[in-house]
Order: sequence, then structure tokens, then C-alpha cells
Amino acid sequence: MDKIVIEGGVPLSGEITISGAKNSAIKLMAVCLLTDEPLELTNMPKLRDTRSMGELLAELGVAVDVGQDSTMQLHARTIASTTAPYDLVRKMRASFNVLGPLLARCHQAKVSLPGGCAIGARPVDLHLDALKALGAEIELSEGYVLAKAKGGLKGADITFPFISVGATEHTMLAAVLAKGETVLNNAAREPEIIDLADCLNAMGAKITGAGRSEMRIVGVSKLNGISYAVVPDRIEAGTYALAAATVGGSVRLKNVRSEHLGALWPLIAKAGTKVTMDENSVLVERFGTPILPVDMETQAYPGFPTDLQAQFMAMVSLADGVSIIRENIFENRFMHCPELVRMGANITVTGREAIVRGVKGLKGAQVMATDLRASASLVAAGLAAVGTTEVLRVYHLDRGFEKIDEKLGNCGARIKRVSE
Ligand code: UD1
Repeated sequence: MDKIVIEGGVPLSGEITISGAKNSAIKLMAVCLLTDEPLELTNMPKLRDTRSMGELLAELGVAVDVGQDSTMQLHARTIASTTAPYDLVRKMRASFNVLGPLLARCHQAKVSLPGGCAIGARPVDLHLDALKALGAEIELSEGYVLAKAKGGLKGADITFPFISVGATEHTMLAAVLAKGETVLNNAAREPEIIDLADCLNAMGAKITGAGRSEMRIVGVSKLNGISYAVVPDRIEAGTYALAAATVGGSVRLKNVRSEHLGALWPLIAKAGTKVTMDENSVLVERFGTPILPVDMETQAYPGFPTDLQAQFMAMVSLADGVSIIRENIFENRFMHCPELVRMGANITVTGREAIVRGVKGLKGAQVMATDLRASASLVAAGLAAVGTTEVLRVYHLDRGFEKIDEKLGNCGARIKRVSE
């Protein structure tokens, strides 16, 4: 199994081009199931998760063609199977989102309950309740969801009890081909939701209000094939910005939509890092000044993203004072804390809060993480630490960060991937 080996203590200096957003790309891939015409996606990241989704779509009968140049062609001329097996769905939770499009197009589906990152229980009750509201009959049997919609799905008025990115997207993917109008109340407002709506609308869907709490979808009978560019990955951009703030130096992030990280920039600045933005890029700089403590709590968009919480914690673990971090989205997302503590951080977790008492320096160690974003925080900590850090279980990183070792290496980091 590969590991990442880092010799820490070198400030970063250089440019990093941000890839297409993983969390958008995998939902956009599911869109291909809604049309018998070809869908081309550009600015696609090459990741383990996009590969897993490609394997699942191929199993359903989609012709999947991955280009050399960040493009992917997907063509679901016919659906060969409406069963998404456990072996493929367990690799990535978001692949569960094929259920809605299969129901919309074929009026039936059998999809395994999902796997994915070990960050809390992460049920799919909101997804299933929304599909039931659209007229699906749903049964759970032996780890599978068996769903039917005789005569097709029908528009409905749906109020989510709390905000869920996945349930909002899943309902959109089903409602676009339903008969009549669907209204989503308390919908998620993430940029990835807008990206999905933009793609579907370009194909002929009628979605209004994406990016607001109330979204309206008037069902259409057919969607057309198109070419669509995936939005840049705000979490990848935020991860490298926080890495630069943690280790110091100067990094220019290119292909960034800085407005998608509105909750991050003021907090990075408060922590003592200079951030300068222009149209498509962001310059992040800290030269020798101390990191200042900053409290932070995660919220649904436009609040601070939970997917940057671990990376933010790595930064303030080196601050000159105490920071309090509160995780409001997932109940079990502090698994990186004991690993950061192994590197010399001083962190106490009580329920949903972590008290981070800044230390003067971190020391390299062997660490491992159980989720994707946590692994990125360990890489950032390793860059700032004295000595050698080995990050084990690199497959977590490969799920969501394209060429992380190469991108950081190009900025002067002493980082390499080692196969064992
Ligand atoms: C997506 C992102 C993930 C991000 C998260 C929150 C993808 C592939 N993943 O995950 O990176 O951290 O949004 O921004 O886009 N919940 C339920 N029942 C449900 C659905 C969700 O209880 O049916 C709970 C979850 O356990 C969690 C909370 O709702 O506590 C929010 O989860 P959700 O927004 O759905 O996250 P995902 O879509 O899984």
C-alpha cells in the first residue's frame, strides 16, 4: 500500500492549479443516466471516486470514456441493468445517488445502501423520504433499496427537516423527469448544487432557485446531451490555502472561484495570513509572522465547510493561543485529533467541540487517517513539522485530491509517494 513521506519545515513557494470539484463531478456523472444522448464533462478531476463512479455507471450499461485531457464522455444510450451492487456502491457513498435517476428513467431500481467515509452514521432517510414523496414505493431488503414508481415519478412539495447536500442533489436528479412541479424547501445551497442545476438546465431541465433554500423544478419529458465544465474544487483550494497558512510561504492558487470560500478567507486572515484575490486566482502568504488563534464552527453553505475543519485544525494547532473548533455537521468528525496529538499537538475533544491549545512546533511521526479530508490535515501538519512524517492509508487522499504530492512538490515541499 502506498504512503506519503514528508520531510517537513520547508515553506511553500509556487503555484497550484485547482482541479474540478470531486463533489460536483460525481453527481454530474450520475446525470448521464437521465438521457439517451451523450454527456461530455470537462475539467474533470482524475480521482479514485470518479473512477469508482465510472465503474458503477459502466455496470449499469453506460459507455464511459475517460480522456487524457480532463474530459469524460458518458453515454447511457440504453440502461442495461437497474441494479447497483454492494461491491461498487460501498466504495463511495455518493454513488447511492444513481437510485433517483434510475427510478426517473426506468421506473425501478435496486441499489445497495452506501458505504463511504467513516464520519458518523450518515443515514439516507432524507433521500428515501424525498423519493417516496415523488411517488416511489420503497422497500429495504438485505442491504438493498428496492424502489418502484409505476407510471413514473410525480412532482411534490418536499420540506427537508434539516439541510442535506446529498438528499437535495438526489431529489433534483429524480424530479427533473417527474410529471409536474416539485418544490424543495430547506434545500442545501452549496456551489455544487448550483453546478448540478446549471448542467441539468443546459440539458433542458427547468430548475429555478438553485443556491437558495427554496428550489422549484418543473419536470420535463426529455433531457439532451451537452458538454459541461465541472466547477473548480473549493475544498481542494481551501486545503492548499490552509496548508500554506500552516507551513508559511507564498502560494498562488489558480482556477479558483474565491467567492465559494467566503467563510474561509476572513478566518485565514484573522489567523495572520495575507490573502489577495483576483478574478481567477488567490495568493496566500505568510512570512515568519505567528499564527494567531481563531475559533471556528462548521455550518452548511455559506458557512464554514466541514470538509475544511480538519485542515483548519492543523493550522491553529500551531497558533499562539487557544482556539475552539465546533463541528456541527457530522457527529464523529474529530478522528484526526489523536493523529495530530501524536505529532505534538495539544487538542482536547469534548462532544462536538475541540479545544486546540497552540504549540510551538509539531514533530514528524507515522500517522494514519480514516477519512479523506482528515488525511489532508495530516499532510499539512507534516509539511510544517520538524522531521519525517509518514501518512499511511493514502487511498483516502486518492479518493479526493488529484496529484497532491506533485502539486505540493512543485511548491518546494519535500514530499514523495512510496509504494510498499
Ligand atoms: C456531502 C459531501 C461531503 C460534505 C457534506 C456536508 C459529497 C460527495 N459529499 O456529503 O464532502 O462533508 O456534504 O457538506 O458531496 N443526513 C441524515 N440523513 C440523510 C442525509 C444526511 O441524517 O438522509 C445527515 C448526515 O449524517 C450529516 C448531515 O445530514 O450529519 C449532512 O449530511 P449531507 O449534507 O447529506 O452530506 P453528504 O451529502 O453525505
